Amino acid sequence: MKLLVTGGAGFIGSNFVRYWLKNYPMDVVVTVDALTYAGNLENLSDVSDNPQYKFVRGDICDRELIFSLVKDVDVVVHFAAESHVDRSILDPGAFVRTNVMGTQMLLDAVKEYGKRFHHISTDEVFGALSPTDPSFTETTKYDPRSPYSASKAASDHLVRAYFHTYRTAVTISNCSNNYGPYHFPEKIIPLFITNLLEGKKVPVYGDGQQVRDWIHVEDHCRGIDFILHKGRIGETYCLGGDNEITNLDLTKKLISLLGKDESFIEYVADRPGHDRRYAIDFTKARQDLEWEPLITLDEGLEKTVQWYIEHQEWVNRCKSGEYKEFYAQQYGR
Ligand SMILES: NC(=O)c1ccc[n+]([C@@H]2O[C@H](COP(=O)([O-])OP(=O)(O)OC[C@H]3O[C@@H](n4cnc5c(N)ncnc54)[C@H](O)[C@@H]3O)[C@@H](O)[C@H]2O)c1
Repeated sequence: MKLLVTGGAGFIGSNFVRYWLKNYPMDVVVTVDALTYAGNLENLSDVSDNPQYKFVRGDICDRELIFSLVKDVDVVVHFAAESHVDRSILDPGAFVRTNVMGTQMLLDAVKEYGKRFHHISTDEVFGALSPTDPSFTETTKYDPRSPYSASKAASDHLVRAYFHTYRTAVTISNCSNNYGPYHFPEKIIPLFITNLLEGKKVPVYGDGQQVRDWIHVEDHCRGIDFILHKGRIGETYCLGGDNEITNLDLTKKLISLLGKDESFIEYVADRPGHDRRYAIDFTKARQDLEWEPLITLDEGLEKTVQWYIEHQEWVNRCKSGEYKEFYAQQYGR
C-alpha cells in the first residue's frame, strides 16, 4: 500500500509515519508538510534514510502539488492542521485556511482519483461536558467553541458531505488529547515537563479544574491503523485513552515525576471560552474494530518524561525563535 501522510512532520503525524514504517515495512509512505513552526524534519530523522519513505515540503492548499501527490497513492491520512487553540484565538484565519480549505483541496483530489481518505479530527468539535454528562460518542451533536474546534468541525462536515454527495471513500476519527514523544512544547504536557526541567514554573489556566482525557500517541496511531484496515467507509470512530483527569491533577503528577513541589505551579488567567470537560466513549471502536488503548496514563507519562529528559537539544531548538515571541505575547514574558 502507498500512503500520503499530510502533516507528517508534526507531533502525531511523525509518530504515525514511524509507526507505519515499523509495522508495514513493505508499504511506501510519502509525507507532505509545509513545515510551519509546528513541523520539524528532526521528528523524522530516524526514518529519513528508509527507502520506503519520502518527504515533500508543501502546502495542502497547493492544488497542483496535492493533485500530483494524491494521484500516485492509495490512501491519504490527513493530519496537517493548525492545531493550537491559543493560537486560534489570536489568528483564526490561518485555521480556516489550512483546516477547512486545505481539507477541501485534499478531498477534491481524492474524489478526482477515487482514493481512500482518513481524516484525523478531535473530540473538541463536540464542545464541553459538565461533570455529570455522558462522554462524547460518534452521535454527539457538534458544538465547537474555539476557532480551532470550529475549523475542525467544518472540515469533518466537509468530509461527510463528500461521502454523501460523491461517495468518496472516507473515514473519520475523533480523538482525545494526545501526549508522547515529539510533542511541540507549547501544549500542556510537553510545556510543563520542559519548564520543570529548566527549573521554571508551570502556568495553570484558571482553577486547573478543566478535565481532559489523555491518550498516548502510540495508542492513537494503532487506532488509525485499525480504522484503515477494519473501518467501514463513511463511518466515524471516537478514540480515547480512558484517562480522565483535571489539569491540576495532571500537573501534580508531572511535578512529582520531575521531583519538584507545588511551589512550581503558577495560576494564570483562564483561556477565553475554556471548555470544562472532554471525555470519549470509545465503545464503537472497541466493538467494531477490537481496538482499545493499551498504555496507562502513569506508564505513558513516565515514558514521556524520560523522552524529554533525553531530547533536551530538540526542545531547545523548538523553544527558540518564533516560539519565544508567541509566549512573550501570551504570558507577558
Ligand atoms: N494533539 C492532539 O492532542 C490532537 C488530538 C486530536 C486530534 N488532533 C488532530 O491531529 C492532527 C495532528 O495534530 P498534531 O498535534 O500532530 O499537530 P501539529 O501542530 O504538531 O502538526 C501539524 C503539522 O501540520 C503541518 N501543517 C500545518 N499547516 C499546513 C499546511 N497548510 N500544509 C501542509 N502542512 C501543514 C505543520 O507543519 C505540522 O507539521 C491535527 O489535525 C489535529 O487537529 C490532535
